[in-house]
Amino acid sequence: MSKIKCVLVTGGAGYIGSHTCLYLLEAGYDVVVIDNLSNSKFLSLERVQALTGKKLGFIEGDIKIKKDINSIFRHCKIDAVIHFAGFKSVAESVTDPLNYYQNNVYGTINLLRGMEKYSINNIVFSSSATVYGEALAYPIKENSVLSAKNPYGRTKLIVEEMLRDLCMSSSSWNASILRYFNPVGAHHSGAIGEDPKGIPSNIMPFISQVAVGKLDKLSIFGNDYPTVDGTGVRDYIHVVDLAKGHISALKKLNDMPGLMTHNLGTGKGWSVLQLIAEFEKVSGKKIPYKFVGRRDGDIAINYADVSHAKEDLFWEAQETLHSICQDTWRWQSKNPDGYVSETN
Ligand code: UD1
Repeated sequence: MSKIKCVLVTGGAGYIGSHTCLYLLEAGYDVVVIDNLSNSKFLSLERVQALTGKKLGFIEGDIKIKKDINSIFRHCKIDAVIHFAGFKSVAESVTDPLNYYQNNVYGTINLLRGMEKYSINNIVFSSSATVYGEALAYPIKENSVLSAKNPYGRTKLIVEEMLRDLCMSSSSWNASILRYFNPVGAHHSGAIGEDPKGIPSNIMPFISQVAVGKLDKLSIFGNDYPTVDGTGVRDYIHVVDLAKGHISALKKLNDMPGLMTHNLGTGKGWSVLQLIAEFEKVSGKKIPYKFVGRRDGDIAINYADVSHAKEDLFWEAQETLHSICQDTWRWQSKNPDGYVSETN
């Protein structure tokens, strides 16, 4: 029997958070979300509730505010926290580092303090493959050297270190650190998906906005990398697979508590040109592009060694590049302007 029944999801209205809430509800967990809606819309969670036919609790609040955190723990019997709330733009983190440290690091300290106060000791943390910096060998294993190349990456690394220290300090703490590779795709219904603010900086939303006619042309950052066709290679993981990975991590925390770190990726790398070709095939739309210089801080290749998650969490990505493109296109074509409230 699972001891973990009720889960607090910070940042649950966001892209990965909303998909994870959906699979938590489907798996029978009670779900409470705290989100300040700074980079997300409540409509995502309305749709999650409509898709599952189940209700979740929602608090519009901020993990940086003590009373917001404490009042949830005081009023709800939370057994575990999945912590997504955080800023995620590399470029923004370079121009406004303090905002990133305040939100991602201080916000997490505040959350952990609240958890400590109310004796809630299970946390799943949303980390990123960015903590590997430029790896020396591929596929990347969890025990590779860690280094961050920008403030965003450093906030992820600092929180990881904090969780390691916390688990060392007392055996009552249990932490699952999940390092995501490149999250893409959308729920198969096309009702929830990625809705970036402004012009997307990640490739998949950029391509889908070109396909739907919102943007003219994709700039490909570099065609002189030592890869199959000169463009960057990444491990694109379907957000549905990623969401399911969180359910597997929760089960693991329940059955074998402790500190654990897992890569969530597919183990396969695709180049930018391969991604475009698949997207064009699925959508029937031409994606005009031009080659420009390399983007600062980009690396040639990045893909995961996924054997640890497979053996330890019994989790493996099931989706394909084809389904990733299909589901992204379904979401984008049904919601060209993202989450626009039906009542607007
Ligand atoms: C980026 C972040 C990474 C973060 C991840 C979250 C940077 C440098 N890295 O990863 O820290 O964890 O997002 O999702 O921002 N590309 C283009 N044209 C574009 C956009 C991207 O050619 O307009 C290329 C990139 O050069 C890269 C690939 O597409 O080869 C993927 O880029 P992107 O989606 O931005 O992800 P990452 O850079 O891997």
